Amino acid sequence: MTANVFSDDFDFENRIVDTTEIREDTFEGDNPLRPKTFEDYIGQEKAKENLRVYIEAAKLRGDPLDHVLLYGPPGLGKTTLSAIIANELGVNIRITSGPAIEKPGDLAALLTNLNPGDVLFIDEIHRMSRSVEEILYPAMEDFAIDIITGKGQMAASYHLPLPKFTLVGATTRKGQLSAPLRDRFGVDLRLELYTPEELAKIITRSAVILGIPIEPEGAMELASRSRGTPRIANRFLKRVRDFAQVMSEGVITDKIAKTALDRLEVDSLGLDQNDRRMLTAMIKNYGGGPVGLDTIAAAIGEEAVTIEDVYEPYLMQIGFISRTPRGRCVTALAYEHLGLKPPQNSLSSQPSLFED
Ligand code: ADE
Repeated sequence: MTANVFSDDFDFENRIVDTTEIREDTFEGDNPLRPKTFEDYIGQEKAKENLRVYIEAAKLRGDPLDHVLLYGPPGLGKTTLSAIIANELGVNIRITSGPAIEKPGDLAALLTNLNPGDVLFIDEIHRMSRSVEEILYPAMEDFAIDIITGKGQMAASYHLPLPKFTLVGATTRKGQLSAPLRDRFGVDLRLELYTPEELAKIITRSAVILGIPIEPEGAMELASRSRGTPRIANRFLKRVRDFAQVMSEGVITDKIAKTALDRLEVDSLGLDQNDRRMLTAMIKNYGGGPVGLDTIAAAIGEEAVTIEDVYEPYLMQIGFISRTPRGRCVTALAYEHLGLKPPQNSLSSQPSLFED
């Protein structure tokens, strides 16, 4: 049975742990929390160090930076990083997204309006249409586009040179990019979920910028419930500030952070009702797995891509879900967190042959 077991009693659209960008996260374009230089950008050390080298080398040669593909779960700072790339290169950035480019002409207009060396950032690049994507190939490879005007005997083709530019593409689903597009990126960087220590630094930095008093233990409490994601961490900071102002002297202490996040139904590891319900559904309906993604999706009334992009990365990072060729399994750790006894013979409770 794959009935929607939670259809009516939970608001899936309004999770405080949602990683979708909303206006409150951005401050409409000029978000003071967004770091502007590598110096200010906390975490993603590997990606940052490599980018520093590529940018330095491109500047030394007087060339544009190679095209960059950033991938990883939402909310980790792909847009922020691309703005830093442009800033460090000393060029302008144009920001758009795959679904926003409806026709090949829209992309041609964007490309022909770039200045030499500029960064064009395309978010959700995996959602671009095929006809738009085909304009991008010669643009990326030869810095030119071919435009066809007219029809039949009046048809004419123009080869239009473009300024040399850097495309920064961002995606949560690298596997959905076509091979020809993927192959045209010279730099390929995977962004990782942040550690609680890195998130505590981000929260402390944001608190200073916003003038919110916070104790180190308070920052660590918010950090360990932020699912490895700065966007969630900064959102918690703003919500918990309200509790601190109403319930204490305005200072975010360890106790206020715990109380506020408990009230928001975010548990000690950052799981909300959706995560717990998904795990519970897998346990109650399917014996903890293995269970297929589409079956889980139907059971909790959520889209499979959302489960894959938003729920799973964190649940896998904390070791609550494992992926097997036969489907997803809930691990013994997750059973314990939910206060349930793991089944003796479950895949999840068997020790690995390779454990040391
Ligand atoms: N705000 C959001 N992401 C950040 C990061 N990686 N470093 C500093 N501040 C941030």
